[in-house]
Amino acid sequence: MAVGIDLVYIPRFVGKEKLAARILSPNELEIYNMRPNKEEFLAGRFAAKEAFLKAIKEGIGRIAFHKIDIVYKRDGRPEIHHDGKVYSVSISHDGDYAVAIVEIKE
Ligand SMILES: CC(C)(COP(=O)(O)OP(=O)(O)OC[C@H]1O[C@@H](n2cnc3c(N)ncnc32)[C@H](O)[C@@H]1OP(=O)(O)O)[C@@H](O)C(=O)NCCC(=O)NCCS
Repeated sequence: MAVGIDLVYIPRFVGKEKLAARILSPNELEIYNMRPNKEEFLAGRFAAKEAFLKAIKEGIGRIAFHKIDIVYKRDGRPEIHHDGKVYSVSISHDGDYAVAIVEIKE
């Protein structure tokens, strides 16, 4: 088993529409555009994708962030879909910070 974690500063993501278009999957971009607190959502997705790269031991740049799709399950829990596989992820935000952790079963 391996885990990855990432913590990000939410104000870095205010008004980052180009970054959103580059790192979010089409499904996530649709949700982003409907969210009142866009920066919080974007920061959480960014943290989750960085945590995923840490967990699968890939360097930044090896996997396109927009190909990592984080979808909500029926009960509201997010999960990562990438390259036909599904991974557990947990995202949280409070105040200026968002954090995400990913678990990979090897
Ligand atoms: C999940 C929950 C604990 C989030 O707690 P919170 O302290 O308000 O918010 P946090 O910032 O810590 O977490 C928010 C993130 O949790 C995730 N999340 C949402 N629902 C979730 C759930 N049911 N289980 C796990 N994670 C969940 C999301 O990724 C969300 O971030 P996002 O909106 O950027 O995607 C809270 O929303 C809750 O209790 N929801 C009720 C879930 C429920 O009862 N579902 C019933 C079935 S429909």
